Order: sequence, then structure tokens, then C-alpha cells
Amino acid sequence: MIDQIELIKKEIEDFNITSKEELEAFRLEFLSRNGKVQSMFGLMSTVPKEQKSEMGKLMNEVKNLAQNMFDDASKKLTAKKKPTFNSKNDLSIPVEPTYTGSFHPLTQALDEIKQIFLRLGFNIADGPELEDDFHNFTALNFPADHPARDMQDTFFVKKSDKTTDDDLVLRTHTSPVQIRLMKDQKPPVRSIMPGRVYRNEAVTAKSYFQFNQVEGLYVDENVNMGELIETLVMFCKLMYGTDVKYKVRPSFFPFTEPSIEMDVWWENEKGGQWLEILGAGMVDPNVFDAVGIDSEKYTGFAFGMGVDRIAMLRYGIDDIRLLYDNDIRFLNQF
Ligand code: PHE
Repeated sequence: MIDQIELIKKEIEDFNITSKEELEAFRLEFLSRNGKVQSMFGLMSTVPKEQKSEMGKLMNEVKNLAQNMFDDASKKLTAKKKPTFNSKNDLSIPVEPTYTGSFHPLTQALDEIKQIFLRLGFNIADGPELEDDFHNFTALNFPADHPARDMQDTFFVKKSDKTTDDDLVLRTHTSPVQIRLMKDQKPPVRSIMPGRVYRNEAVTAKSYFQFNQVEGLYVDENVNMGELIETLVMFCKLMYGTDVKYKVRPSFFPFTEPSIEMDVWWENEKGGQWLEILGAGMVDPNVFDAVGIDSEKYTGFAFGMGVDRIAMLRYGIDDIRLLYDNDIRFLNQF
């Protein structure tokens, strides 16, 4: 008899209650009406009289043990979880930093360029990236099959054996937008034309197969070279600060005559160097003829600048590929 009771006691002690399901199993096994504790008391009738008090004591101990274990476990399992504090219910906790993203350095440079020219009285125009040969070359005074077309390392999309006006190219510069604008609008014209351009060049730290330009065009009566240079110098000072070092030198483009290029001094660890930031010039009369503007009455200036160069100069970026890799560790810095 004692052995039987000890066995039940041991079973109770060994029962590990860790969930509500186990708690219920425990109750059914030991404490319910048909449970082991109750049936243990049922054996009392078979106990000899003189042992009854001792056995009763023992059985009560076992019963209390089971009841206490049940009560304790039940309390633990139903206890309310402690509230956890976070910034939603405790306003004194500092918030986690959030990363809101930033504008791409090219977008930032482009925005600054746009702001400057809007201040100078230019508006913004747009044109297609897939261009025909006429707009990208012919109307801009590139003679047919002239090597000057090779100068631009063109990606041809549709090419006939002998160049025709509707061969298709990825535009190699934003100058074709000048042509579209002048065909649509009689002078005065004073616009900038930002956009992406493509050239079939080897990818290096300095060159890429795509980049961004901003074209500028001002056509009216009596527009002259002095105004062009004044505008470009003004641009440099607004973009790089009044102490910017710049240089204007003669150059060649089929669609401007005379033509110039502008360089800006770039300080770096190795001392510094001149970097070309734009090409410009007076609109060639042949271009006016191609779009039906009277070249006796009107003159104009045009310029084209590389946005990538300007962004690199501005932010001290020494590899153009960084601008197109979209590496978040790079972009996060802007
Ligand atoms: N389109 C020229 C280029 O891409 C730049 C330019 C634009 C030069 C307008 C003169 C006038 O190199």
C-alpha cells in the first residue's frame, strides 16, 4: 500500500507542467473524480484499522502536493504578460533612427543647374532619347558620312548602307532638342534641355556609355558671344562659388561657329587639374537654315554641359561608374 502511494507521489513530482494543455492533462490524471488521487482514497476501506491514521496522513500529503502543483502552474500560465515598453506607448523612449533616403547626386546637380538657369530666364524643354539621324546629325550641320559622326561614338539602332535622315540612333548629345525646339517655336527662344545621352565608349573611371547633359539655347536678334561667355561665367560662379577658377578656350563643333570650351580648376590631393565642363558657341547659320529661321535676322548661342562631370567635381567623386552602380553605401552619403 505504501509503495502504491509513494509511486503516485513520484509521478506527481515528475510531472512537468509547461503549457495549458499539460495543466489539463495533470488535472485529469490526478485531481479529477476518476483521477489517481481520488482512487487512492478509495483504497482506504482496505486499510487495517490501526494503520488508517498513518495512511490518511500520507494520502493527504500526496493530495496537497498535487493540488499545490496544480495551483502554482495554473497561476504561472495565466499570469498576464508584463507590458513591454516601446516608443508607441512610452513617449519618453528615444525613437530608432529612420533612413529616409536621399536624392541621387546626379539629381541634385541637375536640380542646381536648373535652378540657376531658371533664375537667368531660361525655361526647360525636353526631347526623345531615340533620335533620327536628321535631328542628331544632319540638321546640326554634320555632313553625311563625315568622320565627325564617328567623333560621337554612336550607338546605331537602325542604320542603312548610305546614311539617311531616318536612320535611328540613341542620341549622342542633347543638341537635337535644339532642332526640335527651333522647328516648333519662332525666336525668341531661351531654353535649357536636360537629358540622358549615349556613346559607344569603353567604360572606365572617366567615361561611361551613358551620361547626362544639359543643353542651352538662346536665339534672338543681336545675341552675341559676349553674352554667351557672360552667361557661362555667371553659371560657374553660381554653381561653384565666386572664387571659382575657369578658362575659356577655342574649340570646334559642326553646329556652332565660333566654338569654345570651358574648363574649371579642380583641386584634389595631387594638386589639381583643369576639367572641361562644357562646349558652346554661336549657332552656325547652316543650323538656322535647316530649321527655317532667318539667319540674317537672328543670331543665337548654344552650350552643352555634362551633368556627370559637374556632379563629380561638385562632390569630389573620382569614378563615373559610382554614379550608375546604385550602391546604397555610396548613395547614402548624399
Ligand atoms: N553637343 C556638344 C557635345 O555633346 C556640346 C555642345 C552643345 C557644343 C552646344 C556646342 C553647343 O559635345
